[in-house]
Amino acid sequence: MKKQFPENFWWGAATSGPQSEGRFNKKHANVFDHWYEIEPEVFYKGVGPDTASNFYNSFKEDIKLMKEIGLNSVRTSIQWSRLIDDLEANTVDADGLRFYNEVIDEFIKNGIRPVINLHHFDLPVELLHKYGGWESKKVVELFVGFCQRCFEAFGDRIEDWFTFNEPMVIVDGGYLYQFHYPKLVDGKKAMQVAYNVQLASSKAIQKFREVNTNPKSRIGIILNLTPPYPASDHPEDLLASHHANLLSNRLFMDPSTLGEYPSELFQLLDKDGVLFEHTAEELKIIKENTVDYLGVNFYHPHRVQRPSLSSDSLAVDWMPGKYFDHYEMPGRRMNVDKGWEIHPKALYDIALNIRDNYGNIEWFVSENGMGVSREERWLGTDGMIHDDYRIQFMQEHLYWLERGIEEGSKCFGYHLWTPIDCWSWMNAYRNRYGFISNNIHTQVKTIKKSGHYIKGVAAENAVDFPDFIIEKFKQA
Ligand code: BG6
Repeated sequence: MKKQFPENFWWGAATSGPQSEGRFNKKHANVFDHWYEIEPEVFYKGVGPDTASNFYNSFKEDIKLMKEIGLNSVRTSIQWSRLIDDLEANTVDADGLRFYNEVIDEFIKNGIRPVINLHHFDLPVELLHKYGGWESKKVVELFVGFCQRCFEAFGDRIEDWFTFNEPMVIVDGGYLYQFHYPKLVDGKKAMQVAYNVQLASSKAIQKFREVNTNPKSRIGIILNLTPPYPASDHPEDLLASHHANLLSNRLFMDPSTLGEYPSELFQLLDKDGVLFEHTAEELKIIKENTVDYLGVNFYHPHRVQRPSLSSDSLAVDWMPGKYFDHYEMPGRRMNVDKGWEIHPKALYDIALNIRDNYGNIEWFVSENGMGVSREERWLGTDGMIHDDYRIQFMQEHLYWLERGIEEGSKCFGYHLWTPIDCWSWMNAYRNRYGFISNNIHTQVKTIKKSGHYIKGVAAENAVDFPDFIIEKFKQA
């Protein structure tokens, strides 16, 4: 069954500066560059971000490959630690400026729409050491200054801006669950960081509205909206799911799109003594500077159950786990390599949630994808990785996305993570996600079967869903 997608649909892929470029000629270290310098052993096989996928040196060839597989749009990010020379004065580094200008021009020359994100977990580490990073409102101001430089330098050609990628992961990784530097466990700091990052996004949008002169340009934020599904209909599981939604999704979704925090969330944080420091003036800025559109990263659902500990427990740190626990559903479908559940229907649920609760704002799937380790297992004698599992994964998600669109949700694109296998935070090159593989020792890049597949989809602006997928989801 072939389904046509809306006109001008974005068929593309997403990467980020720190994960693709390599550190070449970069004046400053970001938090991950620094973490690798001091603890290389925590990164998979000791591989750090120094070379990554060499995009700094090979961007022309890489973009040519992206064109070859028919992508009409690609997201990357501008690294604060590369573009800015003096982090206090916000002066622009000449080589950083040259590099991003050339990258943007190369994308446009190849008929690919460059989608630019301004923060992908890559805070310059000096700002963490000097001010406490996102705990500090001084850093909010410096970020807005960096964004202004980007709008001024590239705004004539960039029509699609995003302030942050997955702000929730900055909070979870750096301040609650220790998978990002500075790997603290501090609920109060976590909530302050969440607020300051939201404020930084809203203030960057305010600055964009002041300085942007390109009438076609829009600005948004990219959120990992992971729908919580309760373990059962028991009222306590339902409540746990409600709280997970408040603390993981609505913490950024509501202020970014509606301009306000849910009052229930405010009361909950206040009652627990972890409400962030804020002013009426800041809340007004958040209110008045909502996004034009939204990017949604979706990989896996979040199944939740009532917390295992009594809320009356003593001497425990404040953690969101006070309100919900993770639930491993028996019989779940898995991407075993990555350890993530596969639940494509969640994209439909996301689509309807945005339609019904967020003013049917325009959005796109800014990341979706299937990380597979030891992917060379699937290398054929033809020299190509036969990633049929990735093609099926995309088809299943696109099936549900299309149903959401048919029911009125305004989704305008689908980006896979990622165009070319890239480096990832602690996982380095463990999980491969790309349409194009990368031999990290030789930097030879080869189109996978999924790369050839997406070319056909993009050319037709349609997906031909195999019968087994229609059958599988018919009853759902
Ligand atoms: C996304 C991030 O959440 O997950 C990307 O935005 C990241 O930056 C991707 O690379 C995959 O992560 P991992 O650790 O599975 O390779």
